[in-house]
Amino acid sequence: MTGTIYVLNGPNLNLLGKRQPEIYGKETLADVEAAAVSHAESHGLSVRFLQSNAEHQLIDWIHEAREDAVAVVINPGAYTHTSVAILDALNTFEGPVMEVHISNVHKREEFRRHSYVSLRADGVIAGCGTQGYLLAIERVARLVNPAA
Ligand code: DQA
Repeated sequence: MTGTIYVLNGPNLNLLGKRQPEIYGKETLADVEAAAVSHAESHGLSVRFLQSNAEHQLIDWIHEAREDAVAVVINPGAYTHTSVAILDALNTFEGPVMEVHISNVHKREEFRRHSYVSLRADGVIAGCGTQGYLLAIERVARLVNPAA
């Protein structure tokens, strides 16, 4: 393994599979984690897959990523639209950052169209369902190992 990707999930994503399945689908976060781990492995990368409903915890993990991770993939949930603190934390991280949204936030309420995290993200994937995590890992693998 040539590095670890931190895959961070924000509030309410622990309820994936049960929460508004018509929007977010029926897969659970554990399903997404298993798929992310195996996809990253196929690119010679490992994954630390984490979820919290607490903003400070997400920020602490981003700080840990500064020492431990080659890249961050983050679905900040509703903090996407509110959290300058998560943006500030991501701005301290030097590797690639990919922002993922399971739903197409641009097709929903107006307030979901603004993302603080996008001011830092190197790429944004929205509306691809949980496959978006795998697409983000694919992109990270290319960015951390351009020759592969
Ligand atoms: C989300 C979109 C956000 O607007 C929402 O608050 C979420 C999930 C998504 O994955 O589509 O919690 O980030």
